[in-house]
Amino acid sequence: MNPIVQIQRHEDIAVIVVDNPPVNTITAAARAGMREALDTLAADKNVRAVLLRCAGNNFFTGADINEFSGPPREAEYRELWAKFEGLGVPMIAAMHGSSIGGGLELALACHYRIAPPTAKFMLPEVTLGIIPGAGGTQRLPRLVGLNNALRMILDAKPVDAGKAREMGLIDEVISGDFATGALHFAQKLIAQKDGPRRTSDRQVDAGELTADFTAKWLAEARRLYPNRTAALTAIEAVQATTRLPFNEGLLLEEKLANQTKSTVEARASIHVFFAERESRKIEGLPADVAPRPLASAGIVGAGTMGGGIAIAFANAGVPVTILDVTQESLSRGLAVVDSTYESMVKRGRIDAAEKARRMKLIGGTVRYGDLAGCDVIIEAVFESMDLKKRVFRELDAVAKPGAILATNTSTLDIDEIAASIGRPQDVIGLHFFSPANVMPLLEVVRGKQSSDQAVRTAMELARLIRKTPVLARVCYGFIGNRMMEGYAREALLLTLEGESPRRVDTVLEQFGMAMGILAVFDMAGIDVGVNVHRTNAHRYPPDPTYYQADAALHAVGRLGQKNGKGFYRYEKGDRTRHDDPEASAILARRAAELAVQQRAHSDEEILERCLYPLLNEGIRILEEGIAQRASDVDVVWCAGYGFPRYRGGPMFYADTLGLPKLLEGMQKYRDRFGPMHWEPAPLLVQLALEGRTLADWDKERRGVEA
Ligand code: NAI
Repeated sequence: MNPIVQIQRHEDIAVIVVDNPPVNTITAAARAGMREALDTLAADKNVRAVLLRCAGNNFFTGADINEFSGPPREAEYRELWAKFEGLGVPMIAAMHGSSIGGGLELALACHYRIAPPTAKFMLPEVTLGIIPGAGGTQRLPRLVGLNNALRMILDAKPVDAGKAREMGLIDEVISGDFATGALHFAQKLIAQKDGPRRTSDRQVDAGELTADFTAKWLAEARRLYPNRTAALTAIEAVQATTRLPFNEGLLLEEKLANQTKSTVEARASIHVFFAERESRKIEGLPADVAPRPLASAGIVGAGTMGGGIAIAFANAGVPVTILDVTQESLSRGLAVVDSTYESMVKRGRIDAAEKARRMKLIGGTVRYGDLAGCDVIIEAVFESMDLKKRVFRELDAVAKPGAILATNTSTLDIDEIAASIGRPQDVIGLHFFSPANVMPLLEVVRGKQSSDQAVRTAMELARLIRKTPVLARVCYGFIGNRMMEGYAREALLLTLEGESPRRVDTVLEQFGMAMGILAVFDMAGIDVGVNVHRTNAHRYPPDPTYYQADAALHAVGRLGQKNGKGFYRYEKGDRTRHDDPEASAILARRAAELAVQQRAHSDEEILERCLYPLLNEGIRILEEGIAQRASDVDVVWCAGYGFPRYRGGPMFYADTLGLPKLLEGMQKYRDRFGPMHWEPAPLLVQLALEGRTLADWDKERRGVEA
């Protein structure tokens, strides 16, 4: 018998139990086991109903994404589902936890569907650039109607059991013990002589399909998924249910599903998915380097970052002690932590008991001695080298041997901090993003002297607190902020050249950035960036126009959202951006002082000028070995900076654009503006001339490593 799939018997009811940890993916082995089980049961005259359920926390979560790049599997799925649907006795899907993608499509091919009240159902395919390709587009409308089916496929969000029952996706919500309830449901069907009920036999109400209906859904697809086609393709497939017999519909679905798989948006989304797994791997680290224990954490600095990091630990169940310099600043920090949890309770994310449990994991202190037992201590005090060195001296004096001593610095030299204490091998950078309890990205910065074990432990720490880690080496700005430098520089300069903040942001948002960079400045606080630039002025090129738009606004006290005035104007308590002629006048004045000419720019120029420096810097980061691989750079920008996943991250996008085109672009602007900011990265020149891509480069390096 297949180890993943077992048959249990309860008199005349057979239960197929699939146990494929961790999340019951429909792998090849699971499919083989189910095929075998169905053949066995089809031949058994004593079976009068069959239940399909899964062990673990959920029903099936979907197809095996590892098979995505292999040969098409639609035909195999179709045949297996047909076996479920073709069974001569009632076939019941008992769906606890989440039923996702292919897992839900399998249930659609069963005759009945039941679930406990906590169950969730979701078809996430369009967010990955593909469409439900295992019968979903053909069966779902037959069960719930065109409108509900399109809502579910386009929303790509979990639908709860109540809603699923209401629209006819499931037949019954079963309270109490689910296994027992499911058996009762099967017994009831047998008693009532309810036989097989095939979804494929049902008709779709074609009356729903008016011209207005189609127009509404096409508009919705464009609104939800700008620059993408999968949702439009899904609509085409769903609509076909009104005109094509079921089997022809399935063939059309297969054709469309395979078309979507080769689109850039699908390849990009899948690339990011795998890149996020790959980024956890550390090149060249011996496999026997084990992580150190991580049972408790300490944090120095109870400010914005310290508080957020503490929450991340407590959310993962790890006890954490926060140290601040005075009782007052400590209390202030802990109060912010408390109110963050309180707002999670208000929004229904956790209940009051859970809040209490997590708050209990967070302790406060003003004495370094209280951090002596911590396995990892993260420093998040003000950004000052002297201060940080002082904090690290204190930590060196009290921390237990082998404790990881991490700094959350954004701009300071971690090697200098490490060299200032007696155990540089234990020092590492852990660069969190704000708000640290929400943002998934964690740059793990490996210093010159960081030990292999410290690096391994830091990657393990990321897993523990559910962050997406990317390993970087020490340089100013690490990976993410270093690439931000040129991107923001050009956006700011464009506002001096007469473009409104809204125009610049709109072009960036139309490209797919989660938020235009000038709106980001307003959100983060214009003073934050200006202060960083002031402190680090010696690092920047001698360009009088460099980061002057934000400086001009800052000079007249425009700090962004926090005081209602920045690149935009804001009403109190509202984040809506309003255009502000006052801001434009200030920018125009600064431009005049700097003799920057005002002129019109095409959308293309705005986009190229912002993006090309970002891509070029990413390539420099690769050639300098700051990042391990091109796909890591993609992870940084997708997980931390709102770069669209459907474009695969900056390095994937550079390949899509074509490296020769990027090179030409850099050369074009170098000729216009001079080489100070526009010198193409040598690796870009090399790869473009050789006709190779960054993906090739990644692959070759992996080959070298292996
Ligand atoms: P913050 O100003 O909100 O908090 C700093 C905290 O450190 C304050 O509570 C202060 O009382 C405390 N502190 C100062 N001196 C101390 C000492 N000697 N001992 C103990 N505590 C002391 O600053 P924020 O924004 O949390 O930044 C902290 C660090 O994180 C900085 O290095 C910053 O560059 C870095 N960072 C900040 C990000 C952000 O978006 N705010 C993002 C990533 C890193």
